[in-house]
Amino acid sequence: MTGSFKTQMLHKGDFLREWQTIEDGSIDLVICDPPYGELRRVHDWDNKPDFAVVSSILNHLLRSPTGQVAVFSSAKMLTEVETAFSKYFDRRFIQIWQKPNAQVMHKDRPKPDVEFVSVFHRKGCKKDQRVFNWEDVAQQGKPYSRANRNLQQTNLHAKKRAIDVNATGLRYPSSIVHHPNRPAMTSAEKAYGKHQAQKSLQHIINLIRLLSNPGDTVLDPFMGSGTAILAAIMTGRRAVGWDILEEFVAMTAKRIEMETAQGVLI
Ligand SMILES: C[S@@+](CC[C@H](N)C(=O)[O-])C[C@H]1O[C@@H](n2cnc3c(N)ncnc32)[C@H](O)[C@@H]1O
Repeated sequence: MTGSFKTQMLHKGDFLREWQTIEDGSIDLVICDPPYGELRRVHDWDNKPDFAVVSSILNHLLRSPTGQVAVFSSAKMLTEVETAFSKYFDRRFIQIWQKPNAQVMHKDRPKPDVEFVSVFHRKGCKKDQRVFNWEDVAQQGKPYSRANRNLQQTNLHAKKRAIDVNATGLRYPSSIVHHPNRPAMTSAEKAYGKHQAQKSLQHIINLIRLLSNPGDTVLDPFMGSGTAILAAIMTGRRAVGWDILEEFVAMTAKRIEMETAQGVLI
């Protein structure tokens, strides 16, 4: 790993103050996993930013009209995120991330075993301009050809063909995804990423493949252990990231260095 890699891609500082060092309209996709202040009493990194400010900054930085942003949030923060981003962006869809290892927190409600990823595009981006590479994240199944079971259900389905053909076997992605979070990740994944809010590498790889193209530039303004930076490099995208704490910038640099040395990069 060279010094130039670190200075070009990984920045130590307050993204909300330093974002102007990025050229306007140069970012294709933002993976945004901000602090939500819900763990503030235990972790000093957990200071919630003003989402109205974050969305305004990202509106400057995202390419027009195709730039997209994927924002992680708990159920509690979903409305606040939606309200802040709706000034500059339209929501495309919400992905539900189901976590396998959630603990019971309160006896008057279900386990908090889901988190949300809200995907927004810039206002004015036409349908055929929106990147959605679903084949790149599709599960492979068996090809089939069978009677269309939905045919009689609604007027919408009535226009469909009587025979439903899937020649490739690829299964269209669901809105619900299942990925482990800490501490259920494999020890290999946790070896270099040691952030309390570390996200699943496979989950971020899938988001980047789905929402951007090879050669595109991915920004992570709150990178933590650098999962999105690593995922961007692994999928042939350019990456740029910030973290306000030196320990996490160093963690990301080390993680990329070690994963590169082990030949993980493709
Ligand atoms: C939820 S964590 C990100 C975890 C990351 N997705 C991962 O997989 O490891 C948010 C990170 O944002 C950083 N942070 C908080 N405020 C920031 C700011 N104003 N600018 C840059 N980074 C900030 C925190 O230090 C923390 O590491």
